[in-house]
Amino acid sequence: MSRFNGKVAMVTGAASGIGRACALRLAEDGADLFIADINADLLADTAATIEGMGREVVQHVFDVSDGESCREAVATLLGKYNRLDILCNIAGIAGAKHLADISDEDWRRMTAINLDSVFYLCQAAMPHLLASKGNIVNMASTAGLVGQAYNAPYCATKGAVVMMSKALAMEFAAQGVRVNAVCPGGVKTPLTDAFTFPDNVDMNLISKLMPLTGDMCEPEQIADAVAFLAAESSSFITGVALPIDGGQVIG
Ligand SMILES: NC(=O)c1ccc[n+]([C@@H]2O[C@H](COP(=O)([O-])OP(=O)(O)OC[C@H]3O[C@@H](n4cnc5c(N)ncnc54)[C@H](O)[C@@H]3O)[C@@H](O)[C@H]2O)c1
Repeated sequence: MSRFNGKVAMVTGAASGIGRACALRLAEDGADLFIADINADLLADTAATIEGMGREVVQHVFDVSDGESCREAVATLLGKYNRLDILCNIAGIAGAKHLADISDEDWRRMTAINLDSVFYLCQAAMPHLLASKGNIVNMASTAGLVGQAYNAPYCATKGAVVMMSKALAMEFAAQGVRVNAVCPGGVKTPLTDAFTFPDNVDMNLISKLMPLTGDMCEPEQIADAVAFLAAESSSFITGVALPIDGGQVIG
């Protein structure tokens, strides 16, 4: 028996990077998957890989920032599997700017995709997680634990994801639903490949230090931690915000 046999997991952001790695790890370890993303082509590729492992997979293309679409997605999942054990909220965006250059639209897009989505999906999924005694793993960041220059909206959303996770962990602990967050430092994904700082930044304010290796990690190293938190072996762990950052935010 693999550790997720008989379990159904929903993973957002599963078309790319960390979300894709998480979906594949859960499938490798026996889960059936409901994978979601706004990028249909890449999501289909993740689905094909999961099918190749002999697991059930449903792919659902939607915008996680829209509440009604989130509720529809969870309803579609229940229609197919009739249970939900693990929710992994991984979809997200990044982007650095000087404070003065952040438009209202920039702020709303970042908060809608990185934060609103987590609220909508936790809310829609909770009745089904209560039924299965399941759990949630939310994607935060070291940007949710320490300040990062030129990154105010991103830090705000990830800090909020940390605290939402802790609040829900408290609210539902006695009913057997665990809620945890992971806080990666740098991870080699298309998001970091495309990441640029604006002109005229003070590089002294930007910490790149990852003492363990001096480099970013692979998405599979984040997936290992997500799977650990989602599994029965961490049944006494809830409300943590776990840094996975090569020591970047020690102390
Ligand atoms: N890469 C890093 O260094 C790093 C570090 C800390 C936290 N994170 C977080 O990890 C998560 C995944 O990042 P990644 O590096 O794998 O990036 P990525 O760009 O490779 O993957 C993000 C996925 O989210 C999807 N997505 C974006 N907006 C969406 C929307 N509105 N609706 C549905 N799907 C949407 C994208 O299509 C993409 O497939 C993000 O929440 C990010 O903030 C990343």
